[in-house]
Amino acid sequence: MSLNRRLFLHSAAAAAALPGLRPLEALAANAPYELVAGVFKQRVRESGPETGVWGFNLQSPGPLLRFQQGEEATLQVRNRLPQATTVHWHGIRVPNEMDGVPNVTQVAIAPDTDFTYKFRLPDTGTYWYHPHQSSFEQVPRGLYGALIVEEARPVPVDREVIWVLSDFKLGPDNQPVEDFGKITDFGSGGRIGNVIAINGKAAGAQQKLELRPNERVRLRLINASSARLLLLDFAGHQPWVISYDGQGVPPRPLKAPLLLGGGQRTDLILDGSAGRGEFAVTDLRDKGTRLATIAYGGSPVRARVLGAPRAIAANRHPTLNLGKATRHYLAFEGGVLGMPAIGKVDGRTQDVKSIMEHHGLSWTMNYTAQHEHALMHEPLFQFRKGEHVIIKMVNRTEFEHPMHLHGHFFQVVAINNRPVKERFWRDTVVMAPRQDIDIALVADNVGEWMFHCHILDHAAGGMMGTVLVE
Ligand code: C2O
Ligand code: CU
Repeated sequence: MSLNRRLFLHSAAAAAALPGLRPLEALAANAPYELVAGVFKQRVRESGPETGVWGFNLQSPGPLLRFQQGEEATLQVRNRLPQATTVHWHGIRVPNEMDGVPNVTQVAIAPDTDFTYKFRLPDTGTYWYHPHQSSFEQVPRGLYGALIVEEARPVPVDREVIWVLSDFKLGPDNQPVEDFGKITDFGSGGRIGNVIAINGKAAGAQQKLELRPNERVRLRLINASSARLLLLDFAGHQPWVISYDGQGVPPRPLKAPLLLGGGQRTDLILDGSAGRGEFAVTDLRDKGTRLATIAYGGSPVRARVLGAPRAIAANRHPTLNLGKATRHYLAFEGGVLGMPAIGKVDGRTQDVKSIMEHHGLSWTMNYTAQHEHALMHEPLFQFRKGEHVIIKMVNRTEFEHPMHLHGHFFQVVAINNRPVKERFWRDTVVMAPRQDIDIALVADNVGEWMFHCHILDHAAGGMMGTVLVE
């Protein structure tokens, strides 16, 4: 990928005036599903004016998309935004040309034009969709939604609840602060909102999840925030974890607060306990802000609390052979606290810092000649189809980065060079500051796939590359 192309990927489209939106056409059952990206008002904060948001089908989060495993989805995206867009189906192993990445897998959908995505749903689980064009602006304005692929034999529960977690950065007038694409956000923790939202409404004690005694609820959590990492505390209650990023894991009690980086999902099982009372779900990363209240009450659903939930039937994943895996290396540098001064660019020693600043970039991935891939050379890696690979990610920054690979699942096989015993399939993993994480995968989906930080300001600031599988 040329420098120009890369910069094009990162370019911030200026926010234009918001046009009005024509009313939605009705959706016919069984017809191709229509997603209309548009601009409208929605009640986010409890009081004060409604908020101008961007979303699909006049709602943020957009409509819940539910499919059966193996089903073919036809999704017609109509763009009624003031800027070009695309839709990416986060976590779904789609064919490359359906991945929704502008300038890599498709031409961005211009305002007032359409694009039809058509793909089979190979895996069950909790997924989500969001634009990949100017995502640092389009996602925090409200463009995202949940996509669920049901299991043939779902884990038995009484009810299912989905929390699409996000945040909005609102002024006192409840309107979004128009400060998208700030270089200071790109190089630091990202543009963090001041109103955490659950399903598009301000989080807080008033967000109630009611549980009857011994009732069993499946809670699907999706972190759709553009920058915020959540650390969810269910103190006083012990949920079961049944999946990460839509992939079933042997059910286990959640023993510590749950870290949910941007893009990540976790499915929990909550069992209502006997008696009455309430407990708070808080975000320990946000000074312990209460996001919701889980309230017990009502008549018992059954005589006693259920035992451990059944495991979700595994999706079809390749058998990793670490012994024959090829090894690759990916170093991350930059951010306001650590921009490299000098490095090799196009084989020549140059002042990386000023080049980066010139292009509005804040981060580098593998910038030194030693590791071959000089600044802004693309793709980062080229793999043969079916190649088993281990990528050592070295975070030389003072920031956390939820790293997401498209088109594949991977396993974390080592952290700081210590092998990880219990390994799960994931599509997004949080690298702690200064941490090394080795991920392993079988590169079995042909195409050029994005590999980027899901702090979307970081992705726009340079923490975004591609992996070519051919
Ligand atoms: Cu959820 Cu490349 O994105
Ligand atoms: Cu990052």
